[in-house]
Amino acid sequence: MLISAIVAVSENNVIGLAGHLPWRLPADLKYFKSITTGHHIILGRKNYEDIAKPLPNRVNIVLTRDSLFEAPGCVIAHSLEEALLFARDAHESECFIVGGAAVYKEALPNCKKLYLTRVLATVKGDVFMPSIGDGWVLQSETKIEADEKNIYSMSFEIWERP
Ligand SMILES: NC(=O)c1ccc[n+]([C@@H]2O[C@H](COP(=O)([O-])OP(=O)(O)OC[C@H]3O[C@@H](n4cnc5c(N)ncnc54)[C@H](OP(=O)(O)O)[C@@H]3O)[C@@H](O)[C@H]2O)c1
Repeated sequence: MLISAIVAVSENNVIGLAGHLPWRLPADLKYFKSITTGHHIILGRKNYEDIAKPLPNRVNIVLTRDSLFEAPGCVIAHSLEEALLFARDAHESECFIVGGAAVYKEALPNCKKLYLTRVLATVKGDVFMPSIGDGWVLQSETKIEADEKNIYSMSFEIWERP
């Protein structure tokens, strides 16, 4: 099973603000949907609470250490290993780590593919992307210009490593 991460990061490395995304970028949400639909996604409890519902047409695996936590329509896992095992047992071909920072930090060493949206702006934030580690090779890059719906330009980058 390929383990991939998908994230949107500003030029100053911000990914979150006050428990939410720091921006509204429908083009990136559409891209995220197109890449992750049909797959298992692994998300931290805080990220889940921001989204507040399972993302449709994906198996949502929520990570928490709270044995009483419930997330209707989602699978609960109490460790990254448990979450990955669940996806593997379901014969997933590509499982997505979808954040937040705590989950990226732990999972990135296992990831061989990274869908990185560079948000071409400096923004205010309180959650930052951890180091992605070494060995990444850029496979493709697609520039999206800002428009009336998307206030920042973006670049959809796909990175892989052996
Ligand atoms: N820009 C982007 O692409 C992007 C993507 C995703 C999220 N975000 C942003 O990131 C922020 C949230 O990130 P965050 O780092 O604060 O929180 P997070 O990673 O979403 O969630 C952290 C929580 O996940 C649970 N958890 C993490 N690792 C675990 C493990 N190995 N085993 C069991 N449980 C585990 C714990 O929950 P318990 O406390 O319940 O035990 C932990 O407190 C938000 O602002 C969100 O909008 C941005």
